[in-house]
Amino acid sequence: MRTLTVNLEDRSYPIYIGAGISLKDELYSKHISSNKIALITNEEIADLYLSEISQTLTSFDLKVLVLPEGESQKNLETVQNAIEFLSDNGIDRQASIIAFGGGVVGDISGFVASSYMRGIKFLQVPTTLLAQVDSSVGGKTGVNTRKGKNLIGAFYQPSAVIADTRFLKTLESERFSEGLAEVIKYGLIRDRDFFEWLEVNISEILSLDSKAMAHLIERCCQIKAEVVSQDEREGSVRAILNFGHTFGHAIESLTEYSVYSHGEAVAMGMIMASNMSQKMGMLSSEDTKRIKNLIESMNLPVSSPDLDKNDFFESMKRDKKAQDGEIRLILLESIGSAKITSDYPKEVLMKTISEY
Ligand SMILES: NC(=O)c1ccc[n+]([C@@H]2O[C@H](COP(=O)([O-])OP(=O)(O)OC[C@H]3O[C@@H](n4cnc5c(N)ncnc54)[C@H](O)[C@@H]3O)[C@@H](O)[C@H]2O)c1
Repeated sequence: MRTLTVNLEDRSYPIYIGAGISLKDELYSKHISSNKIALITNEEIADLYLSEISQTLTSFDLKVLVLPEGESQKNLETVQNAIEFLSDNGIDRQASIIAFGGGVVGDISGFVASSYMRGIKFLQVPTTLLAQVDSSVGGKTGVNTRKGKNLIGAFYQPSAVIADTRFLKTLESERFSEGLAEVIKYGLIRDRDFFEWLEVNISEILSLDSKAMAHLIERCCQIKAEVVSQDEREGSVRAILNFGHTFGHAIESLTEYSVYSHGEAVAMGMIMASNMSQKMGMLSSEDTKRIKNLIESMNLPVSSPDLDKNDFFESMKRDKKAQDGEIRLILLESIGSAKITSDYPKEVLMKTISEY
């Protein structure tokens, strides 16, 4: 098992990574102060893994809330129902919540934990690659409203993250590739050696070799932990984690969230951001090509449908990360080094959009 720490003073916490570690009851008991636990999961994950995790947690008084599957569950009604469930089941201030699932379950459960009785402990047991390398770490929790994704939420750190690589074996391949988009992102923004390791280990990764997966998750979590430790609330450097996302969100929004998954849109967004970095004279054409090749070899799309460039620009301006209508971009100085900037000629952005 590998262990690393997210350093946030009194809110610091460990991330445990390894195959089969979700079956070790001592990992939970270390971080839980009473014997009451509310485990929140969804139907799909419950079918696969509820029985084994319940057997691991037999020494606790376990209450299980199973949500229907899907992003559409990420709303305030689910939060209210979950809070009523906790209250009906005698979950008190000393009890803990376990978020057992992908990013959807994690975001809902974390937000419920942040608000129930003004905050109770919670642990993340992420079951998708995206959740293991991204959403379970860093403390962003929340739900969607009709006016936008993740509009309601809180920064609320878990007490521990238990990332069991075994869960990835049952993940659909498209879901797995979605997580890989975020994995590639970490190499691009912070670590050229890791990017090169990904290039060399494509077949081990795609065949879920457990040693390769443990290394991959560890390196991604290390990078996320370092960035979050420097800037927990995204006042500055944490924004680099949005590399590719501003372009990606415009693709998602203009295709009405029905053509591409988030990870696919981020993959295309990273290519657009790389193209723009090259046009700005920052990134070499050779590096731009390598980025595209790696994304393609991870079974992610590299070209998007024809979208109107003015609509695209307006959509980027509406992104919630824009400030006073100014589009802040994360661009690459090289593979492994990213920069946040609003200082670029608009023509270069428009050219990037229209040529993609
Ligand atoms: N909080 C953050 O920092 C953060 C960061 C990135 C994304 N997010 C959020 O994460 C969500 C997306 O997360 P996701 O990609 O994990 O999607 P998800 O939670 O919807 O899970 C994807 C699908 O995989 C299924 N699944 C989960 N684990 C499985 C397993 N081991 N085997 C088989 N099937 C399994 C789920 O039931 C679901 O159908 C979005 O809501 C996004 O906003 C949050």
